[in-house]
Amino acid sequence: MKNCDLLIRNARIYNGLGDGPDNGPSPGPANISNGAVADLAVDGDRIVDLGPGLDYHAAHEFDARGLALAPGFIDVHTHDDTAVLRTPQMLPKISQGVTTVIVGNCGISASPVTLHADPPDPMNLLGGRDDFRYPTFREYISAIAEARPAVNVAALIGHTALRSNHMNRLDRAATEAEVGAMRAHLDDALAGGALGLSTGLAYLSAIHATTEEVIALAQPLAAHHAVYTTHLRSETETILDALREAFTIGDQSQVPVIVSHLKCAGIANWGRSPEVLSALEAVRETQAVGCDCYPYAAGSSTLDLRQVDERVAITITWSTPHPEVSGQPLARIAESWGVTQLEAARRLQPAGAIYHSISEEDMRRILAHPATMIGSDGLPLDPRPHPRLWGTFPRVLGRYSREEKLLPLAAAIHKMTGMPAARFGLEGRGVLTPGAFADLVLFDPESVTDTATYSDPIQPAKGISHVWVNGVLTYTAQESTGERAGRFLPRGRTRWIQ
Ligand code: ZN
Ligand code: CU
Repeated sequence: MKNCDLLIRNARIYNGLGDGPDNGPSPGPANISNGAVADLAVDGDRIVDLGPGLDYHAAHEFDARGLALAPGFIDVHTHDDTAVLRTPQMLPKISQGVTTVIVGNCGISASPVTLHADPPDPMNLLGGRDDFRYPTFREYISAIAEARPAVNVAALIGHTALRSNHMNRLDRAATEAEVGAMRAHLDDALAGGALGLSTGLAYLSAIHATTEEVIALAQPLAAHHAVYTTHLRSETETILDALREAFTIGDQSQVPVIVSHLKCAGIANWGRSPEVLSALEAVRETQAVGCDCYPYAAGSSTLDLRQVDERVAITITWSTPHPEVSGQPLARIAESWGVTQLEAARRLQPAGAIYHSISEEDMRRILAHPATMIGSDGLPLDPRPHPRLWGTFPRVLGRYSREEKLLPLAAAIHKMTGMPAARFGLEGRGVLTPGAFADLVLFDPESVTDTATYSDPIQPAKGISHVWVNGVLTYTAQESTGERAGRFLPRGRTRWIQ
């Protein structure tokens, strides 16, 4: 009999590849389809076998009858750049079954950054001046190795972060020389294994960048087989123009495009998701294009005066001059101060907010679309974070798949595992197959659910039974085991399955 470290018996297997005809060959033994009951054997950091009735002598063995076994979830949209170093147990994520986070989204990354002043908005979402200590991408990778986070970390490089390195002011387009300096930084990071470039063109720190600036900067991506991700220039009235700009950048640079947290924001745009998704589908015939989405009808970021609309409920999550208002509606603050909401918002700056500015119906349509991956967009430093930080993945599984039947479980899991691993080039991740890394989550499909709410946002999910990262048991019985086996994941070969 062969030996192995861990044998999980009688689990319902979800292989991460979904059930679609175009999701690649079935993993391992061809007879294991999604939902089938089988055993899985792990040795060291790898899955070594998968199939019914495996014959192994295992150091640890247990019966997972009634539980679902999936590849560890990949959170494709995070702002965990400094959280993986400051709070390496990464409880908000590991408690959801997330085993890999992709940092550096929305144009902001912790590296390569040299600040000359306080971080510009929205880089302040990642921390204060002292948190930006990685002038090169390699230094950031070493910091990850030293911190040993509980989850794997893969990283994008932020356009705004590069702008802040090389520009004396951000309210203008970069000059050719500045773009050249930014490009050299990006190229170096890509050589070090960064996944690609992210932009946050809606923010005031990047909105003055022209399309040409981004195309010129994006030039090294293709040779590295890297990707372009973007928080669109607009998610409101001009979203179609913003999408077109993103597709043009991808087309001119010959790289895949991932639209971040796709949504139709603002009351005037509710109901436009079919139009937006058709635009995406049309381009998918000729270009590699996809998106990510969080399963909530509210967004969150720094407080943006342009988004203050008396018809939209806004909650203040933090404010530097007025920390006492954390958790209060902007409307109530304005009333008690006897000023307009816009004036109150001005006085609260710098601040963070949750905007209830998305329609549930649009969000559901985008979430269920085959182009969409799951990304939390959680803000780990927020004292009163949007509940997506702790709830995103179990909410998709419990509320949207099981309860509302918006999408089958295998499809939901595919959006959090095999699909992102292929698109971002995370080799050996996101699938259950012999030879793949043993990033695993075992959960109860009948009870898995999010518990974090807007009023009580710091709450671990229910129904996540065991989480292994690189073969190491990291979370069980609603607690961290204390082990931290995450690694930095360099970009591998991307495979784009539309
Ligand atoms: Zn964003
Ligand atoms: Cu984001």
